[in-house]
Amino acid sequence: MKPVPWELLPDSSELGDAGELVIGGCSVLDLADEYGTPLFIYDETHLRQRCRDAVELFGRHATYATKAFLCKAMAKLANDEGMTLDVATAGEFHIARAAGVPAADLVFHGNNKSVAELRMAIREGVGRIVVDSFDELNRLDSLHAQGHGPPKVLLRVTPGVEAHTHEFIATGQDDSKFGFTVSTGVAAKAVERAGASEAVNLVGIHAHIGSQVFRVESFAQSLQVLAEFSEPFGLAELVVGGGLGVPYVAGEEAPTIRQWGQILKREAAQAGITATLGIEPGRSIAAGAAITAYTVGTIKRLDGIRNYVAVDGGMSDNPRPVLYGSGYETFLPRAVAAERPFHARIVGKHCESGDILVREGLLPADTVVGDVLATPVTGAYGHSMGSNYNKVLRPPVVFCENGDARMVVRRETLADLLTTDLT
Ligand code: LLP
Repeated sequence: MKPVPWELLPDSSELGDAGELVIGGCSVLDLADEYGTPLFIYDETHLRQRCRDAVELFGRHATYATKAFLCKAMAKLANDEGMTLDVATAGEFHIARAAGVPAADLVFHGNNKSVAELRMAIREGVGRIVVDSFDELNRLDSLHAQGHGPPKVLLRVTPGVEAHTHEFIATGQDDSKFGFTVSTGVAAKAVERAGASEAVNLVGIHAHIGSQVFRVESFAQSLQVLAEFSEPFGLAELVVGGGLGVPYVAGEEAPTIRQWGQILKREAAQAGITATLGIEPGRSIAAGAAITAYTVGTIKRLDGIRNYVAVDGGMSDNPRPVLYGSGYETFLPRAVAAERPFHARIVGKHCESGDILVREGLLPADTVVGDVLATPVTGAYGHSMGSNYNKVLRPPVVFCENGDARMVVRRETLADLLTTDLT
C-alpha cells in the first residue's frame, strides 16, 4: 500500500512540484517523452559518489566490476574517479579501451580465457591478470615462449565459504567452476607453480565469494581463510572480490560501500593481513543509481485471479526476475509519493508467460494505459544482461546530473538488428 520506499531511488531524487519524480534535476516524465521508453535513467552523481567512496578507502585497488554495467561513459566515469576496472572478456576489455581507459588500469578476469584474449591483454599492457586454472597457466607459459609477457598476475582461489545468496551467483564454495581450491591444497600448489614460473609475475591472491551478499560475516570468514592461506607466501596484494548486496525491495537493508570497506579493512588487520587489500564492487556502485522507465500498454483484470499490467520492455532489459526470482518495486513517476493499493503482476511484451518483471507489483489505484511506470534499482545486471529476444530493441541509457541529461547509449534501431546478418 505504501509509496515506493524513497531509499530505493537514486541519491539525487527529488519530488517535483506536481508530485513527479526528478532525478539529477531532470523530470523522469520529460525524459520518457524525449527519449521514449523503455529507458535506463542513471543518476550520474550517485555513480560518482559510490566510486569515490570505494577509492577513498582502497585507492587504485578499488576496481569496478564492469559486468554490472558497462558502456564507454561508465568505463570513463569509474576510471576518472580513480577506479581500476575488472573486465572478464575481450568484449569488456575492448569497450573499456575504447573509452580511453589505459590497459594498465584493467584487471583481466575469467574462468576460461582464450589464448587470443590473453595475448591481446598482455600485448596491450594489461595491469593484472587474475589466473583461474592450471590450464590458463599452461596458456601463459606458451605465450611466454612466443615472447609475450610476463604479466603481473593474481591467483584466484576458492576459500570454501558458502555465501548466503542465490546458488547461481555463489562462487566461494569448493564446488565451483572458479579458481584453485584452498581446502584441498590445490591453491598452494598453484602458488608454488606460479611463483617459480618465468611466464608470470605473481603479485597476489584473489577471491570472490559471490554476489548480492548481505552478511558481512561471509566476507569476514573469507578473509580469515585467505589470511591463513596467503600468510606464508608474503605476496603484496590480496583482493577480496566484489559481492556487496544492495536493497531491491521494501524492508531490505545492506551495508554501504564505506561500511563494507571499513569492516573488510578491520577484519584484515585483525587477521594479521599485511598485503594491500583490494575490492571489486559492481552492483553496489551501479544498481541503485538507475531506474528503468516503461510505458503501460495493456491492463488485464482477471476477477478473482490476478491483474496483469504489461509494459513495453521485459525480460530483454531485465532478466533477473526470470533467472534468479529477483524482486523489484514498481511505481508511477508521475505520482512517486502515492499510495499503491492496486496489486498487479508487471509483465513484459515477450512471447512467454515467464516474462515477468515484478511478480507482486503495487501501483496507484488510478494507473492507466499510457502511464509511465518505473522499477528502481535496475542499474546493475539489467542493461548488461539485456538481450534482443523477440528482436526487441535494446533501450537507450541516459545519465542525468544537475538538470542536464545526456544520452550515453542510443536506442537500438531495426537496422542494427541486421548488422551481422549476411544473406
Ligand atoms: N569480481 C568478480 C570476480 C566477479 O565475478 C563479480 C561478479 C564481481 C567482482 C562483482 O560482483 P558484485 O559486486 O557486482 O556483486 N548477474 C548476477 C550477478 C553475477 C555476478 C557475477 N560476478 C545478478 O544479476 O545478480
